Amino acid sequence: MGKVILTGDRPTGKLHIGHYVGSLRRRVQLQNEGDYDRMFVFMADVQALTDNADNPEKIRQNIIEVALDYLAAGLDPEKCTLFIQSQIPELCELTTYLMNLVSVSRLQRNPTVKSEIKMRGFCQQDEEAAEAAGQRKGIPVGFFCYPVSQAADITLFKANIVPAGEDQRPMIEQTRELVHSFNNTYGEVLVEPEIMLPDNQACLRLPGTDGNAKMSKSLGNCVYLSDSAEDVWQKVRGMYTDPTHLRVDDPGHLEGNCVFTYLDAFCCNDDFAEFWPEYACLDELKEHYTKGGLGDMKCKKFLNQVLNKELEPMRVRRHEFEKDIPEIYNILKKGTEQAREVAAQTMDEVRHAMRIDYFNDAELIASQAARFKAE
Ligand code: TRP
Repeated sequence: MGKVILTGDRPTGKLHIGHYVGSLRRRVQLQNEGDYDRMFVFMADVQALTDNADNPEKIRQNIIEVALDYLAAGLDPEKCTLFIQSQIPELCELTTYLMNLVSVSRLQRNPTVKSEIKMRGFCQQDEEAAEAAGQRKGIPVGFFCYPVSQAADITLFKANIVPAGEDQRPMIEQTRELVHSFNNTYGEVLVEPEIMLPDNQACLRLPGTDGNAKMSKSLGNCVYLSDSAEDVWQKVRGMYTDPTHLRVDDPGHLEGNCVFTYLDAFCCNDDFAEFWPEYACLDELKEHYTKGGLGDMKCKKFLNQVLNKELEPMRVRRHEFEKDIPEIYNILKKGTEQAREVAAQTMDEVRHAMRIDYFNDAELIASQAARFKAE
């Protein structure tokens, strides 16, 4: 069996460094190592619309932002197929069939969906009353079913490796169950995927610059891949560290200290050699910080250098790509056409397995003809 890598992002905003360490950096590495048969990266606009139905303009505007982020981060359309989810109608078709293979209560138990319902404030109990009173919106059916649509995203391309963050684990689990169910019911067509998580704890969920567990636009605590060097420094300078570390001599704490979490996610020993040769590695720096005698500002300056070393080449590439925006839409269009070829092939197999390929089924036509002749 071949090695097919697939992953995507909802185009609801520019990508930030949490997206980067959580998955994008890994994708670029995988792409450049070249050890795969196909690699797909797509913009999940259909999924983004499941809770933004009234604001398609937001999605439309962010397609190009995310595409620029991808290209700036180093995804190469020659090596990896970039496409837009909504332009693959076969995805809707497969979603429809997969929906018959999962129960409402199984979807209700999906932890990611559960927490997202809470976060978005959709009402669950007394839904009718609340909706009628115009207080809160009920859960849109499309939103509720998005794990099934995500299973279609993955299986339509027979992906077996999905680089994604920890929050996507329940989606991959759901997908694996659907693959089992499909293959048991109709025959072996779909492929079970595995999630590929980031290898370090800090990358699993990078906190916001304010120390909040989640980096999110609405909290205003993000560092974007497209931020200028000046913006990054301002954000790093204002970062949450250790509130008990008042004087330089005080012992510092690492727990919940964003500067060190970000260093865990970003820095390597070479960065010390290049920017801060007094220390050989992050462990030495941490030791000094916890003992006392090391100021936050010095650590922040170092973090800023480390971040910029990674972000500056992206800025340069981004500016190059920004010069020809129509060409970016062309890249996406070409990628979408290539993805559709694979999609059509899998759907032929799916329809055949489900025995709904009536017009290609000569045996069916002949047997029905014989049946009516005999009557
Ligand atoms: N759910 C993912 C997110 O919120 C986006 C996504 C949609 C995805 N379909 C996917 C990720 C398939 C991996 C594979 O970012």
